[in-house]
Amino acid sequence: MEINPITGTFGAEISGIDLSSEISETLAEALRDALAKHLVIVMRNQPLGPDQQQVLTRVFGEPSVNPYAPGPDAHPEMTSIIKEADERTGVFGGGWHTDLSFLDNPPGGSVLVGIDIPPYGGDTMFCSQQAAWDSLPEAMKDLLENRDAIHVGKPYGIRWAPPVEEQAMKESTKRNDPDADRERFHPAVMIHPVTGRKSLYINPTYTHRLDGLTEAQSSPILNQLFEHCTLPEHCLRLRWSKDMVAIWDNYSTQHYAINDYHGFRREMRRATFQSAGIDAWRGKTSARAS
Ligand SMILES: [Fe+2]
Repeated sequence: MEINPITGTFGAEISGIDLSSEISETLAEALRDALAKHLVIVMRNQPLGPDQQQVLTRVFGEPSVNPYAPGPDAHPEMTSIIKEADERTGVFGGGWHTDLSFLDNPPGGSVLVGIDIPPYGGDTMFCSQQAAWDSLPEAMKDLLENRDAIHVGKPYGIRWAPPVEEQAMKESTKRNDPDADRERFHPAVMIHPVTGRKSLYINPTYTHRLDGLTEAQSSPILNQLFEHCTLPEHCLRLRWSKDMVAIWDNYSTQHYAINDYHGFRREMRRATFQSAGIDAWRGKTSARAS
């Protein structure tokens, strides 16, 4: 097994392993270590069926079902992310976000497999929220530590719902859910339960305001932070190939699906897992942690 970093900041490509045969406890431990350290890990040429993908997902945590896009009965934790060649909608996941941060207990990470990959385009961008935290000025860190950020599921609710023509995969996702508009409080700063590294847990898709501040007061601060998170130095860009597998830490990164492959079909299969649970990430930074 060889691990090669993708950038000087985060991400690693792992080679010399076969994920379609039995995953030993030694390999499982090495994969968990690699994810904790690198936050995004990538393995090429791993043709995995849904059952094998589920086994791989269980290496990282219990499979967790996306309540807004559940998979088939046999694998409810899996979401097929499909954009047909003739679709002209936006793309599922187009916009910086961490998956489902507006849930009470957001998923710990995902295992994404490339099934049908366009000849060009359809890359996924990631940014390290650990790098974003590390490079913040101390005055901003002081403002954010011990403060919650408030998240709402805008694309899935009513109050902030996007126009229907912009809704990707609208047939297979649940929309217009009033509960998605409910404010959820999560620490603005998370602490990785294994490495102890801090990350900025905010994203422009779901983070609505900072606790103790109104939306209008929060907005200029959050917008500045969102820009800071996605500085090129904090990012990596993954080019997909068929049977490539990417696994990411959903508390320490954001991602963004680039919609630049009009006229080509793209299909991915994503399984999501629950790792230690959000309480393990609170450290002592949340006013509401006790
Ligand atoms: Fe996503």
